[in-house]
Amino acid sequence: MSHTDQPCCTDNWPQIKAKSEAALPRAIVEYIEQCRAKEHAESQLISVLHKLQGTVGYIGKEQIDAVAQLLGVPAAKVSGVATFYHFFSLEERGKFLISVCLGTACYVKGAQQVLEKFKEELGIESGETTKDGMFSLQVSRCLGTCGLAPVVMINEEVHAKVAPDNVAALLKMCQDKA
Ligand code: FES
Repeated sequence: MSHTDQPCCTDNWPQIKAKSEAALPRAIVEYIEQCRAKEHAESQLISVLHKLQGTVGYIGKEQIDAVAQLLGVPAAKVSGVATFYHFFSLEERGKFLISVCLGTACYVKGAQQVLEKFKEELGIESGETTKDGMFSLQVSRCLGTCGLAPVVMINEEVHAKVAPDNVAALLKMCQDKA
């Protein structure tokens, strides 16, 4: 049996598979297929979720079910892993999550002005996502790198000593990556 022929207990596996594939970008489906070809496909779960989040920007309920079906892992396990690690977002958000630290060290070094500049450039408030689904903006408390204040995190990347004048370049860098 090939890895794409899921050993399934239901007669409607083709429909389930098609629905799962439709819930995920093609590249993720292909990646899951590669993972399934390996021994211990389950051990690839975090890697699959990382790729999914990097592509879609978040991991929703529909995606959790789809990953579970295609990888052959219980949905509860996928959901458990996605909720356990803080770097996975379960809520719909932009491809790039911008977190401006407003902890004390960052605040005294001008983080509020950096936040205002992001709001102005993106035309959104903190807690919102741009209409094109590209950027979400949020405020965070101390990110643990006070020596680099003011600090902005974009997805998992830390940007140090950010000034309002750097905001446009940071957004451009994201757009170039997208
Ligand atoms: S206060 Fe911003 S990193 Fe600590």
